[in-house]
Amino acid sequence: MRSLATSAPLLVYFSSVSGNTARFVEKLGLPARRIPLYRADEPLVIDEPFVLVTPTYGGGQGHGEEKGAVPKQVIRFLNDERNRRHIRGVISAGNTNFGEAFCLAGEIVSRKCHVPHLYRLELFGTQDDVDRVSDGLERWWVSQSSMQSMTQ
Ligand SMILES: Cc1cc2nc3c(=O)[nH]c(=O)nc-3n(C[C@H](O)[C@H](O)[C@H](O)COP(=O)(O)O)c2cc1C
Repeated sequence: MRSLATSAPLLVYFSSVSGNTARFVEKLGLPARRIPLYRADEPLVIDEPFVLVTPTYGGGQGHGEEKGAVPKQVIRFLNDERNRRHIRGVISAGNTNFGEAFCLAGEIVSRKCHVPHLYRLELFGTQDDVDRVSDGLERWWVSQSSMQSMTQ
């Protein structure tokens, strides 16, 4: 396992075939692992703290506003207690065309896993999003890692 207080945050992300979230994560240049797209793929198991980056799906309508907002691949990944215990925060992606459902997946994961919803961004993110997340995330990661080690 990597040393927490000194290392950059590990990003665990999901991205569908459109690949927007993957593009954003690539631009951040941080260590990252991808949640597999297909059920037949080897499931991802993570044994260290991470920040989840997830797009929002579901369209915000049709089956009750929250149904389907969190991609099923992300739900499957978080249903594994070995992974869920290491989530420290969530970054969500979406499209403002979806109105109130914009980045809803981040809200849901934040509420269910009791972690902060750190950033929202549209599609693959602007240069501003990349700068904003790059600036804030590492500082936040180091501060929350040292808080955690004080309480252990
Ligand atoms: C069928 C469909 C439903 C979507 N529903 C939402 C939504 O409810 N809220 C939202 O903010 N974005 C929604 N989006 C936008 C995606 O979150 C956005 O395109 C994202 O960048 C996709 O990431 P990916 O290419 O990494 O999978 C939807 C996109 C599609 C194709």
